[in-house]
Amino acid sequence: MTSLWLIYFVLFSIFEGTNGRPLRRVPSGILDSKEKQPLQTFRPYNIAHRGSNGELPEETSAAYFRAIEEGADFIETDILASKDGSLICFHDVILDDASDVADHEEFASRKRTYEVEGNNVTGWFVVDFTLDELKSLRVKQRHKFRDQLYNGKFSILTFEEFIRIALYAVRVVGIYPEIKSPVFINQHVKWADGKNFEDKFVEVLIDYGYKGAFKSSNWLKKPVFIQSFAPTSLVYISKLTNSPKILLIGDITIPTQDTNQTYGAITSDSYFEYIKDYVVGIAPWKDSIVPPENNHLTNPTDLVKRAHAQGLQVHPYTYRNENQFLHFNFHQDPYEEYNYWINKIGVDGLFTDFTGTLHHFQECRRKRG
Ligand SMILES: *[C@@H]1O[C@H](CO)[C@@H](O)[C@H](O)[C@H]1NC(C)=O
Ligand SMILES: *[C@@H]1O[C@H](CO)[C@@H](O)[C@H](O)[C@H]1NC(C)=O
Repeated sequence: MTSLWLIYFVLFSIFEGTNGRPLRRVPSGILDSKEKQPLQTFRPYNIAHRGSNGELPEETSAAYFRAIEEGADFIETDILASKDGSLICFHDVILDDASDVADHEEFASRKRTYEVEGNNVTGWFVVDFTLDELKSLRVKQRHKFRDQLYNGKFSILTFEEFIRIALYAVRVVGIYPEIKSPVFINQHVKWADGKNFEDKFVEVLIDYGYKGAFKSSNWLKKPVFIQSFAPTSLVYISKLTNSPKILLIGDITIPTQDTNQTYGAITSDSYFEYIKDYVVGIAPWKDSIVPPENNHLTNPTDLVKRAHAQGLQVHPYTYRNENQFLHFNFHQDPYEEYNYWINKIGVDGLFTDFTGTLHHFQECRRKRG
């Protein structure tokens, strides 16, 4: 472990040393993708949700390096924008739960209440901080029952720093960025050139060579899935890039942020018929596929079957090792849960907080044939 941590800290200083100034273009010194072990395409994708955030503070360089080392096919992130228009990796629109912002007296007066997707939210909003200010914060583990040892050690990454982590990997490792809360970001952040959040997001991907249809030769060299909960953002983005897109599906009873439809309404056959021109798949909350009752699974819905009938990939979220997240049917054993979703439900990718566990499960199945 000691040597691994040394590597993390060396790489950490390479990335963090840039202090968020625009990096632009792919640096020299990364392996040509011809020399790299290719992306596996014979089994469901291991999608490292916010990096290995079960072990390390989410969306940090350490969480992503750890996920790559543990066998991730894709590293997943959430993209938001700073007050001065830089794209950064952070899950929540407020900084409160996963950073040390509350300990920074200089920002005490920066707390605000804004309406976000129909709810009034109070906190320190990412959109009220410049990139330099965001870089002065440190990330922390949000769940009290997870390891707190690495709190305060890592800063927030920019979108470009995140991409470089994937490109520097010795294997081909894909990226899976979410364009997060686009309605809210476009309300609060304005770019001098009149472009919007979606334009800026796609510009970065194209600058780093991410383009090409799902499973095309360029895609296999630099795999990417663009994900969003906002269907209109995905439709808009489809005019800017042919990179594959994934529609996220939340709790089926709640409305989307950008249409008057609930997520339930956008899982109909007629909706799939429409959206499949824009996306290659869906990423539903796993409980919307197999609804639980008193923490026991009930019968699976036909959602996966109907999505597959339209040729759509299905990548449910989120798989977590801890007891409090495992339905009783799985006997507190995460392998049982992976076995059920991969071999009974037949999904094409899984968002996991514990990349290593999913990877070990897939490898031991493979060895057994
Ligand atoms: C949010 O707060 C404002 C001001 O108090 C209020 O006018 C508005 O209705 C609230 N919105 C929601 C969704 O509760
Ligand atoms: C949602 O419904 C309201 C009222 O019916 C309408 O004014 C608005 O344009 C609709 N928004 C969208 C995105 O369809």
